[in-house]
Amino acid sequence: MRTLFLTLIAGAFAALTFTAAANADVTSLRGANKLEAPAKMFEKKRVETVTGGIKRSWKLQPPSIPHKIGKERINLEANTCLRCHGAEFYKKEKAPEIGLSHFVDAAGKKQETLNMRRYFCTQCHTTQVGAKPLVPNTF
Ligand code: HEC
Ligand code: HEC
Repeated sequence: MRTLFLTLIAGAFAALTFTAAANADVTSLRGANKLEAPAKMFEKKRVETVTGGIKRSWKLQPPSIPHKIGKERINLEANTCLRCHGAEFYKKEKAPEIGLSHFVDAAGKKQETLNMRRYFCTQCHTTQVGAKPLVPNTF
């Protein structure tokens, strides 16, 4: 009985502490938001389309994507980026072929097909929007 009582007290205490934490304001890069309030919809940004590509900042930078990719899918069944950038299609689609480094395995050996370390294109390549940087940087 005594143990049950103590457990109940501990439980109630934990619940109170949790509620207190949940009511606190959360300050993040998106501003101060009440945790229990629904998140504000973020401002939608338009993806920049740049004919001729986006200039690289340094030689081996993964180039930024100069077109929209909202409809592209990269999953177990398909990678729709490859229907334009893949070795068999890029000429017909007049798209740049995926970089030579994408045909090299972890040991540095050249291979005929895309190396799977490069399958998830958007891990390295991103579209661009005209957004103000969230944190200042001098890079
Ligand atoms: C319908 C064809 C098509 C599809 C699908 C497509 N691209 Fe492209 N992509 C292009 C073309 C064409 C260009 C060249 C645009 C230009 O230079 O004006 C390009 C340019 C690029 C570049 C810039 C290359 C450079 O050297 O500057 C990157 C990176 C890129 N695409 C990545 C992707 C990724 C990642 C996906 C999938 C999420 C994708 N693309 C899907 C046609 C496509
Ligand atoms: C691990 C990071 C990484 C991944 C994943 C990746 N890339 Fe790249 N990509 C790079 C880098 C770095 C370069 C520049 C060096 C080079 O050309 O190989 C590049 C270059 C390119 C280029 C320009 C090639 C040229 O000759 O101008 C295209 C197009 C491209 N990638 C498309 C893709 C597509 C499509 C995918 C997905 C199938 C993909 N990349 C996956 C890092 C990556």
